[in-house]
Amino acid sequence: MISEKLTKALNDQVNAEYYSAYLYHSMSACMESAALKGAANWLFMQAKEEMAHGVNIYQYILDRGAVPKLTEIAQPTGSFDGIKGVFDAVLEHEQKVTGLINAIASLAMQENDHACYQFIMWYVNEQVEEESNASDIISKIELIGDDKGLLLTLDNELAARTYVNPFPNNPKLAGA
Ligand code: FEO
Repeated sequence: MISEKLTKALNDQVNAEYYSAYLYHSMSACMESAALKGAANWLFMQAKEEMAHGVNIYQYILDRGAVPKLTEIAQPTGSFDGIKGVFDAVLEHEQKVTGLINAIASLAMQENDHACYQFIMWYVNEQVEEESNASDIISKIELIGDDKGLLLTLDNELAARTYVNPFPNNPKLAGA
């Protein structure tokens, strides 16, 4: 049986992942209204992944004999300073999430909960990729500067992102 402290930390992380989805939806809407449909697509796909991250933790809490407690999801900010402002905020948010995930890994280690430690390591590795993806896009935006043609090229690139279920073996996410 998982400890109450770890259950609470995992519950909070379900909320943080659902909030991430909510935040990326608001960013997606902002980009769509600015005619950057590729960036809007990238963010929408990101939001879908965040929901899957949350559901996977929700399922894990159940698998460990506890009951997930769903709490209020905060209202995301809806205004950003253009595409650069959006992706700066993505990176900042992912860095925050990395801190939360690392804290769960530390707690699992402290409690000698090897199963939970192994479970959360997937998220530790995922955060490296998420921060790197956001940084790469920010670097491209910086290189583009004021060139609208190149911005549209980047937008086309972001339009190509499709959703890949990160947990195809999780029955709650089958077909998602
Ligand atoms: Fe689920 Fe973007 O971390």
